[in-house]
Amino acid sequence: MTASQERGAWGSRVGFILASAGSAIGLGNIWRFPYIAGENGGAVFVLIYLLCVFFIGFPVMIAELTLGRNTEKNPVGAIKTLAPGSSWKYVGSLCVLTGFVIFSWYCVVAGWVVGYLYKTAAGHFSNLEDPSVTETIFINFASDPWTVIFLTLFFISLTGYVVFRGVKGGIEKCSRILMPLLLVLLVLLAVRAITLPGASEGLVFYLKPDFSKIDINVILAAMGQALFSLSLGMGTMITYGSYLSKKDNIPTSAAWVCTFDTGIAILAGFAILPAVAAMGLEYGEGPGLIFQALPSIFGAMPGGQWFGIGLFLLIGIAALTSTVSILEVPVAYMVDEKKWLRKKAVLVTCSVAFILSVPAALASGASEFLSNLPILGKDFFTVISTLFGPISLAIGSLFIAIFVGWRWTVSKAKEEIESENVRFVIGNLWNFTIKFIAPVTITIVFIYTFWNTFFG
Ligand code: TRP
Repeated sequence: MTASQERGAWGSRVGFILASAGSAIGLGNIWRFPYIAGENGGAVFVLIYLLCVFFIGFPVMIAELTLGRNTEKNPVGAIKTLAPGSSWKYVGSLCVLTGFVIFSWYCVVAGWVVGYLYKTAAGHFSNLEDPSVTETIFINFASDPWTVIFLTLFFISLTGYVVFRGVKGGIEKCSRILMPLLLVLLVLLAVRAITLPGASEGLVFYLKPDFSKIDINVILAAMGQALFSLSLGMGTMITYGSYLSKKDNIPTSAAWVCTFDTGIAILAGFAILPAVAAMGLEYGEGPGLIFQALPSIFGAMPGGQWFGIGLFLLIGIAALTSTVSILEVPVAYMVDEKKWLRKKAVLVTCSVAFILSVPAALASGASEFLSNLPILGKDFFTVISTLFGPISLAIGSLFIAIFVGWRWTVSKAKEEIESENVRFVIGNLWNFTIKFIAPVTITIVFIYTFWNTFFG
């Protein structure tokens, strides 16, 4: 096997868009977006979210893909190649570390999805006389230690297996057929949710902005969620870009990925938030929100059980195409920089991630201590998924934007984007957003949040 075969490459341009959309579309859209929107005021959050996608996410995505294609490396290698011997390499290390930790807690939620697939198939939601019992069912489920640990381990192993099989075979095949199908099911689900009696209050919450609810926390949440959902700030798109060919049009591909990803998230909101209102659940319910809302929508649909099986299966697969892309970052780092074999890299990363995932899995009721940490007053899952999630991704994106805009420089990046005569139509807009808008906004949001937390 030659070195380039060991790294792999995309089969086609559409294959790349689908695979990156597969990375971007995942639990971030379907599980996290609705509950974060629910906690942060609904429609105002959505509005700020869209602005963040356009002015921060889209430009950073172009930057990451370009870095990756130019260097054909993982984040650490990419930065080392372009800025040898400088401290910039720590940005790459932050990416790898963030990848590890996100992978570990993300698999906990993916495990819940698998558990709910089983529960739906076994008919646990067949006769819900009172839709609010879904709340009790979720609490009992998430606080059973062995079940959640087993399901997490299952999902980590599944991801490890796919990543071990390599880039093309594993990732592309899945995304190609199943993402469009997920879209169809979500549309049906949204239609049912919106037409439930009592759903209109939820629609108002989701669509009519109440500007008095804007504060720095809403802005931070929207920014972090946009980066998380688009798979930015930890080098996933650097790694994916490294498998792109020079013929591909990076800005157009990035625009497609942003559009698909945002569309799915907005759609998930239309399915969940009206149902929350109709079922009398709380918008600010937290990470359990979709697991409580979804089964009650199935209960109100003809053939709901089959629909539920299909939906949880597709959410599970969407999660898998995302976990694969997260794991790919530390694995590509070890294969490229440490010259490990792929198999060893996968085994080691998965084992470490499993150890890290145990406390995250036990933080939703199984362990009294982890579910309500002293001093912080929050559960371990929320703490770790915020730190290694919105916060570290925003820091990562900030440095990636500064690196590409100022250190590597926009003109070199443009050369890369325009190789093989690709026209970069929005070149000037990108120049301005990557050099100024994205880094300045992220910095201001951080300073303000910091000020607010400690002196506010
Ligand atoms: N974006 C994915 C989701 O929405 C998760 C994900 C995959 C991710 N790769 C990432 C998040 C890299 C941050 C960084 O579910």
